[in-house]
Amino acid sequence: MLKVGVIGAGSMGRHHVRVYSELENCRLVGVADPDPGKQELADKHGTQLFTDYHALLEQGPDLVSIAAPTVMHYQAARDAISAGCHLLVEKPISDDLAKAQELVELARAAGKIIAIGHIERFNPAVSELKQIIASGELGEVLTVNNLRVGPYHGRIADTGIVLDLGTHDVDLISYLLDARAESVFCNAMQRVHNHEDHAVLQMQFPAGRTGIIETSWLAPYRARNIFCVGTKHFALCDLMNQLILVYEDNPEGNNLLAGLRHVERGEPLKRELEHVVQCVMDGSQPLCTAEDSIYALSVCLAALKSIEIGASVAVGAAQAAG
Ligand SMILES: NC(=O)c1ccc[n+]([C@@H]2O[C@H](COP(=O)([O-])OP(=O)(O)OC[C@H]3O[C@@H](n4cnc5c(N)ncnc54)[C@H](O)[C@@H]3O)[C@@H](O)[C@H]2O)c1
Repeated sequence: MLKVGVIGAGSMGRHHVRVYSELENCRLVGVADPDPGKQELADKHGTQLFTDYHALLEQGPDLVSIAAPTVMHYQAARDAISAGCHLLVEKPISDDLAKAQELVELARAAGKIIAIGHIERFNPAVSELKQIIASGELGEVLTVNNLRVGPYHGRIADTGIVLDLGTHDVDLISYLLDARAESVFCNAMQRVHNHEDHAVLQMQFPAGRTGIIETSWLAPYRARNIFCVGTKHFALCDLMNQLILVYEDNPEGNNLLAGLRHVERGEPLKRELEHVVQCVMDGSQPLCTAEDSIYALSVCLAALKSIEIGASVAVGAAQAAG
């Protein structure tokens, strides 16, 4: 039985609390949040609330989820590693590349797993799409275009949309293409947030392949879609409804035939936490490695630099240039 804890029980962390409390091989030893109003959540899931996360770490959890605001990930993760915990840090790993790298080195030196919550990899529709691509059915994938839009919920204040939501799609597109972007160009707007709240990223991958992300907090409706263009076929994946349509040429004419693929539905967070718990139990490597999340952060930081200078930025150059 793994002892688990959650640091930060807000919009995302409360789901970690719920899911851990449902996993048979876990015992939730506590929830840490400075907001005493989270007592109700702790009571509901039969655990203790600590208003200081150090008190939670004193309970000796084997694994902690860190779902406090992004700017706090570094300190909480450092303290949790020092306390001997394995980690699941919500995405993005940090807002700062040097801090992210330090965390990964600290975890490695301590022999602890540091998984990052790139939850969309655990969306069953993404698992199915990855298999469709691997089977060669789409041919060679030339470009993956992701749309992730919705109204601003007023919660995330510490980072703009590139780091908050763009991170998901940088990771997803790179995962689907099984490649890393060489450079990124980004256009952005700022209308309702203190950072950018609408951004379009164009990532350049080796061999002329591209990844395009439109992400916005200015849209009146929510959509999370992947458009995958292959040399043979085209796939449309709806992440919210967990649906995949594959469009194929119609030999009878010019129309495209759309076929709906079977996706075994499931809760992405539950699949993610089960996976991380399993990694801790058998010492295996998480599907999304810490290096993957550092790469995703590097692309997002390069995109922010691109907004600033109005030109394409090589991935890694944004940090080198300071
Ligand atoms: N994987 C995903 O799909 C996903 C979705 C939403 C948010 N997130 C990530 O989760 C993190 C939190 O986002 P959110 O939307 O839940 O924010 P939120 O503001 O709803 O929740 C943050 C919580 O952390 C608590 N907190 C603040 N300081 C703390 C401290 N020192 N110790 C413990 N708790 C503290 C706050 O009281 C609050 O309850 C961010 O990094 C965000 O990027 C990931």
